[in-house]
Amino acid sequence: MHDHPTRRSVVFGTLAACASVASAAADDDDPRKEKRPQKGDLLVFSEGEREGQTITPNDLKIGEPPIHAWPKDAANAIVRDGSRLNEVLVIRLDPRELDEDTLPRAADGIVAYSAICSHAGCPVTAWIKATEGNDDVFKCMCHNSEYDPRRGAQVVFGPAPRRLAALPLVIRDGALVIAAPFIGKVGGQQG
Ligand code: FES
Repeated sequence: MHDHPTRRSVVFGTLAACASVASAAADDDDPRKEKRPQKGDLLVFSEGEREGQTITPNDLKIGEPPIHAWPKDAANAIVRDGSRLNEVLVIRLDPRELDEDTLPRAADGIVAYSAICSHAGCPVTAWIKATEGNDDVFKCMCHNSEYDPRRGAQVVFGPAPRRLAALPLVIRDGALVIAAPFIGKVGGQQG
């Protein structure tokens, strides 16, 4: 014999669904989601099949393109995806290639930078051979600005007026952890 939901259980189910929607709406308004990356935050995938999962050093290999990530308040499980200015690029490089400013901010060769171009604020989406030279670099496809993550994401081509903001990292308990807030201004020159 099959159980049929009573009117009472359907009503409770509906109320539970409403409560869940209200809770999700409240979460979207949480100011911690818009707050810039904080010391102690983890990094999680911001896109793809593993969206929302914590990024570990094993997820990154030298020579592979950057992972797009959000910071996450580890203590409160708040992903800081409430502002596009919080998205970062995480990439593993050969530590021997990093300059003296970049090496202290890196964790085993892994570095992180703002994913927002300093020219007009487009997302930096490409990892591609530099227009000048043989290294792969970050590239913004809006107006072709290029940034070298080995040298503090300084501009190596195009109209961008300044480097990408850097996000210092450490490895703690097997996870990538943000060691300090952004160094440098985040966003486009009008932002
Ligand atoms: S917005 Fe990136 S190059 Fe113009």
